[in-house]
Amino acid sequence: MSQHHAPDRFGVYIHIPFCHHRCDYCSFATWTDRHHVIDQYMNALVTDIRRNVAVGMSSVDTVFIGGGTPTLVPPEALMACLSELPLVPGAEVTVECNPDDVTDAMMATYFEGGVNRISMGVQSMTTHVLASLGRTHNPANVQRAVESVRGSGIPALNLDLIYGAVGETLDDWRYTVQQAVELSPTHVSAYGLTVEPGTPLALEPHRHPDDDDQADKYIIVDDILRSAGLANYEISNWAIPGFECRHNLLYWRQGDYTGFGCAAHSHADGRRWWNVRTPERYIEAVDTNSPTEASGETLDAVTRKREALELSLRTSDGVPVGALDPKTLEGLVEVVGERIVLTQRGRLLGNEVSLRLLP
Ligand SMILES: C[S@@+](CC[C@H](N)C(=O)[O-])C[C@H]1O[C@@H](n2cnc3c(N)ncnc32)[C@H](O)[C@@H]1O
Ligand code: SF4
Repeated sequence: MSQHHAPDRFGVYIHIPFCHHRCDYCSFATWTDRHHVIDQYMNALVTDIRRNVAVGMSSVDTVFIGGGTPTLVPPEALMACLSELPLVPGAEVTVECNPDDVTDAMMATYFEGGVNRISMGVQSMTTHVLASLGRTHNPANVQRAVESVRGSGIPALNLDLIYGAVGETLDDWRYTVQQAVELSPTHVSAYGLTVEPGTPLALEPHRHPDDDDQADKYIIVDDILRSAGLANYEISNWAIPGFECRHNLLYWRQGDYTGFGCAAHSHADGRRWWNVRTPERYIEAVDTNSPTEASGETLDAVTRKREALELSLRTSDGVPVGALDPKTLEGLVEVVGERIVLTQRGRLLGNEVSLRLLP
């Protein structure tokens, strides 16, 4: 996985906390009723980034502009943030896009501004599953949005998919994955629908996903994507070799990153911190030149090492032979050369494997 590329050292995450509509399964820090603060928020991001650069920000290997819905704000305002960052040549720059918003002009502006990767929130390619998830787009919009990305020259494209919505059959899911493959993405992320506490979905048990159904769907997506040349490199992520998401790899390898914007998380050398949660509080903190940090923690060496093992085991890097006893994870791991890696069944039960690793 990415062997040709030295591990990235420093990443930047920029959070855009605005959405047109709230999906009822989503617990991310995002708002649908605060569009009136978008200009102030985007200005605050530029100011905050400039201040960090002025005190000596490291060169940036990867940028991820996520949300919320980055495509809801003017593309020029996103590019203004990007142009402040000291990017290394060849930095990976991703923007998360909602298909409904994508236009040729928007993608052209992104491309000019240095964006080289789009992550598209597709979720499903069947109309009734999109409706069940409460999404506003339709499969035809996805097709059109992908054409805009291609036409712009942006080379790397991830499609985000979700499986396990109520009413989604195995055939629906197979169709979604096949349609995704038809769009020739360089990367696919497929997540089982998660019931997040505090969301409207959490209050409706009849819509909660079934474990056996989720497992069947994991095998379907893994098999179809592998046959299409996308290799699994983390439990929920597949890529054409060389197109792995370097920003996510940096997270999984415990690299350092700074998050800008409300609710954004940062990490530097074992210390993690997170920003104030609302856009208004973030704007106020930047405007008064006060810390944007809400709180933080420093990990002790043992916790850090255990997290490193768990994260690495979730990726196709696996862990070194000797880091754990494969006999305690019979059928879930296999030894490949000098490394222990998860089997398909191990990936399917990935979270359980992590729990069993705990001392
Ligand atoms: C927070 S969204 C931001 C991007 C964009 N607004 C969108 O919805 O596509 C990023 C991704 O998180 C995933 N996601 C969000 N909530 C989820 C949940 N409860 N279960 C599984 N995946 C979820 C979706 O696949 C989504 O594409
Ligand atoms: S899933 Fe995406 S579009 Fe839906 S509310 Fe969350 S961030 Fe917004």
